[in-house]
Amino acid sequence: MRRRLPITSPSDTMDKGYGKNKPSRICLLATLSVFFWVFLLYFHFVVLGGSTVSESAELIPASSVRDSRQIVSRPMTTSRSSIDVRNEPKDFGNFDSVDTRSENKISEESSSFVKQSNGEAKYSEESSSVVSQSDTESSSVVTQSTSEPKISDESSSVVTQSTDAQELPVRNPTTNVAEKPKDFPFMKALRTAENKSDPCGGRYIFVHDLPPRFNEDMLKECRSLSLWTNMCKFTTNAGLGPPLENEEGVFSNTGWYATNQFAVDVIFNNRMKQYECLTKDSSLAAAVFVPFYAGFDIARYLWGYNISTRDAASLDLVDWLAKRPEWSVMGGKDHFLVAGRITWDFRRLSETETDWGNKLLFLPAAKNMSMLVVESSPWNANDFGIPYPTYFHPAKDADVFMWQDRMRKLERNWLFCFAGAPRPDNPKSIRGKIIDECRQSRVGKLLECDFGESKCHSPSSIMQMFHNSVFCLQPQGDSYTRRSAFDAMLAGCIPVFFHPGSAYVQYTWHLPKNYSTYSVFIPEDDIRTKNVSITQRLSMIPPEQVLKMREEVINLIPRLIYADPRSKLETQKDAFDVAVQAVINKVTKLRKDITEGRTNDNFIEEISWKYDLLEEGQEVGYHEWDPFFSKPKNNGNADSDAASTEAAKNSWKNEQRQHS
Ligand SMILES: *[C@@H]1O[C@H](CO)[C@@H](O)[C@H](O)[C@H]1NC(C)=O
Ligand SMILES: *[C@@H]1O[C@H](CO)[C@@H](O)[C@H](O)[C@H]1NC(C)=O
Ligand SMILES: *[C@@H]1O[C@H](CO)[C@@H](O)[C@H](O)[C@H]1NC(C)=O
Ligand SMILES: *[C@@H]1O[C@H](CO)[C@@H](O)[C@H](O)[C@H]1NC(C)=O
Ligand SMILES: *[C@@H]1O[C@H](CO)[C@@H](O)[C@H](O)[C@H]1NC(C)=O
Repeated sequence: MRRRLPITSPSDTMDKGYGKNKPSRICLLATLSVFFWVFLLYFHFVVLGGSTVSESAELIPASSVRDSRQIVSRPMTTSRSSIDVRNEPKDFGNFDSVDTRSENKISEESSSFVKQSNGEAKYSEESSSVVSQSDTESSSVVTQSTSEPKISDESSSVVTQSTDAQELPVRNPTTNVAEKPKDFPFMKALRTAENKSDPCGGRYIFVHDLPPRFNEDMLKECRSLSLWTNMCKFTTNAGLGPPLENEEGVFSNTGWYATNQFAVDVIFNNRMKQYECLTKDSSLAAAVFVPFYAGFDIARYLWGYNISTRDAASLDLVDWLAKRPEWSVMGGKDHFLVAGRITWDFRRLSETETDWGNKLLFLPAAKNMSMLVVESSPWNANDFGIPYPTYFHPAKDADVFMWQDRMRKLERNWLFCFAGAPRPDNPKSIRGKIIDECRQSRVGKLLECDFGESKCHSPSSIMQMFHNSVFCLQPQGDSYTRRSAFDAMLAGCIPVFFHPGSAYVQYTWHLPKNYSTYSVFIPEDDIRTKNVSITQRLSMIPPEQVLKMREEVINLIPRLIYADPRSKLETQKDAFDVAVQAVINKVTKLRKDITEGRTNDNFIEEISWKYDLLEEGQEVGYHEWDPFFSKPKNNGNADSDAASTEAAKNSWKNEQRQHS
């Protein structure tokens, strides 16, 4: 690591003041006081400090310019969070290009000290013990000067390098084995990727041959799958449901089905049968698929069944899996399964009978597996968001291209629209305001859903409205996500989200990282407290940008839909393909990490939503969406978790309004 001079060049800070006398004097003063603090901190840490350094290095990365509150509050977090900045391997090559500012000096100074002094893995306990001393100092430095997150990331990366090296042998048993990497049971599978004459190299999937009680039997008893909906018609056509007639000319003539929003269990499993690189030899497999209908299983028992009934199939499954030779290869970490329901149905918090759902996702075995669900938990690492099914399931590329072309050419008469019901019981819901604005605006269109007969339940009415609108509003429902977001994008309608949990932190495999390329974000609070006009906000977007966004949405269509599982698209990757590739990438990366002795010990599950949003080389730290995902501190996680299970319960009730 190259070290910069510990003294900031004053001109850096002065630059901004040129041409303005007063500011430059203030700058001079600021610089002087910064020097003062630099010196003080240097003295404090390096001369007196001993082991106090790591936390101060960790403070700086949190110093996002936007919010100095965060910097002050940051040290309050426990020693666990001091770990997070060190998580990902860094690019160390950038130091020269970095603009020198004083507070970064400190962190670099101090972190290089870590390198020299930190001999043991005690790191975090020590650092937290000094928090009270260091926090006021470093935060005052930050508020005086303009900080640049980029730089601080790099300084923290110094910590990464120096501490990781020492922690690995202590914490991770696999590092012992790492000296002879050829011994891992998955080496053969990894090596298939190097075989140039094998088009499936590195992509093989092994599918467990589960007893029918875990899948097929549930379909035979489809009447029991829902108290209110006869699911039998929705399990027809390989899970697509009954075909939709195209009487009003809204759909295309083929490829449209009245698909139930919770049918992904079956669709995915049938789609897997078309996967081009299935193998019967599990030693070649890049990942192992478990065709358990987890969503259908719990759907049978959500209402009026005791917890032992609700948990029975999950326990049975993990018991069955653990006895298979495939399990022992990675303790199940290469296994994945699919549930077309929201994650909260599988995260029962306690053994209390009145608590919601089963505990599948809390079982130790399931914590090792990856579960793909239509809504994942921002605070957990073993579930991943995949798209809800839409009504469109094309059987060939040409059907997709034709649909895309049609969506490009449509004339859209409404600026925005909303299909949904108010949530009068939920004081925090912004749906009431959105519905009001749709009613009052001459450019907004509303399809109100209520109990009983309503156009809101007719696929053709919904899709027709989306065809006719430039923007489609997608506020949270009972839980973060809505199927409607996918129906809207399928219609080439640009989604407007009000909470990052509704899509941006959910479908990171399927949607672009930069959400402004395909959607509009209006934070809920702008509606709730600032009385922002949606009409105004949306009409301010320049037409050429609207065109660009719509084109992006339309280009996304193939990867957001599930192709007809009974055939296969020739070249286009559908939602299934994207998900499977992402699972393979994840398992492959884990395997390479193991063979190369890297560990992921610093991963903090509680903020798992942040990791997928990181740009290359970025570290986790403060994020502007933190307030959306913060959990109440005092009473543990009770509030937000209770809200989540309440959401699951309500979403089930509301499900009954559809497809009735
Ligand atoms: C490479 O792949 C081809 C085609 O699947 C196969 O026949 C061959 O045995 C593989 N080679 C090795 C070294 O595994
Ligand atoms: C749970 O319900 C099932 C039948 O629905 C019953 O056989 C079983 O004894 C019950 N278990 C407990 C612990 O109450
Ligand atoms: C989960 O994985 C870890 C590490 O690979 C392993 O030690 C553990 O036994 C696995 N858990 C289960 C229930 O198999
Ligand atoms: C994200 O996309 C928007 C719109 O295309 C663009 O203006 C912006 O620069 C992009 N941001 C990043 C970080 O790439
Ligand atoms: C919110 O704004 C609308 C017009 O955009 C206005 O009619 C309404 O009175 C405002 N409400 C409040 C509480 O400010």
